[in-house]
Amino acid sequence: MKTPLRLLLACGLAGALSAQDTQPAEVKFSWADLAEPAVAELAKSGERLIDRIGGSLMVEVERMLGTQGLETAVQTLHLRHLNPPRPVEGKPRVTEIKRTSFRVRNPRNAPDAADLAALEMIRGFLNSGEQPPKLLVQKVERADAPVEWRVYRPISVGPNCLLCHGPVESLQPQVRYLLERYYPEDKATGYNAYDWRGLIRVSYERPDKS
Ligand code: HEC
Repeated sequence: MKTPLRLLLACGLAGALSAQDTQPAEVKFSWADLAEPAVAELAKSGERLIDRIGGSLMVEVERMLGTQGLETAVQTLHLRHLNPPRPVEGKPRVTEIKRTSFRVRNPRNAPDAADLAALEMIRGFLNSGEQPPKLLVQKVERADAPVEWRVYRPISVGPNCLLCHGPVESLQPQVRYLLERYYPEDKATGYNAYDWRGLIRVSYERPDKS
């Protein structure tokens, strides 16, 4: 009966750790070197996919606002049904697509510890007045799981995003009402045009899982 007890203890411990720290002890992450050919290839593929996602996000906002009522727009945005592209034999497989930020509207988009490190990295550049890198590549290692490679790209707020992400006092009453109704924990208002909004992230698993 040793195993169940050990498992129970391990779970208890993990629970206690994650209560203090959002990063469970067994997750390690580090920045990957874009000069390495395998990393550069991932970065290129991630960049292409993120460009497509970013483009779809913009088009979707314009289309929704042009053709649907605000209520549908608020309930549908953004790209919630976006599935990872179909895997190609022998190529890195996209396992997740995420949009995250220091200030999220939907708590499900909240950053984990590795996302937070990426957000902090970009904020550091912006705070010091430097141009942040266009892409970040991160290696995330967990016990008993294949290595996850994350490609991040910063996104900013366009003028037509302000309808739903602008300063609260500037929001149309209906938008305000809908946001309060569907997103009571909303933190994603108060932006100005061209502010940095957050990151789009694409996660990959390599064929050899390393
Ligand atoms: C009609 C309202 C509306 C407009 C316009 C809008 N958004 Fe959003 N945005 C939302 C909603 C609703 C969510 C929460 C989506 C969810 O539940 O995942 C959201 C979430 C996000 C997120 C994910 C992180 C989070 O806060 O949960 C990002 C990033 C984002 N929006 C960026 C943008 C950008 C960039 C634009 C302009 C191109 C834009 N939004 C325009 C309503 C809007």
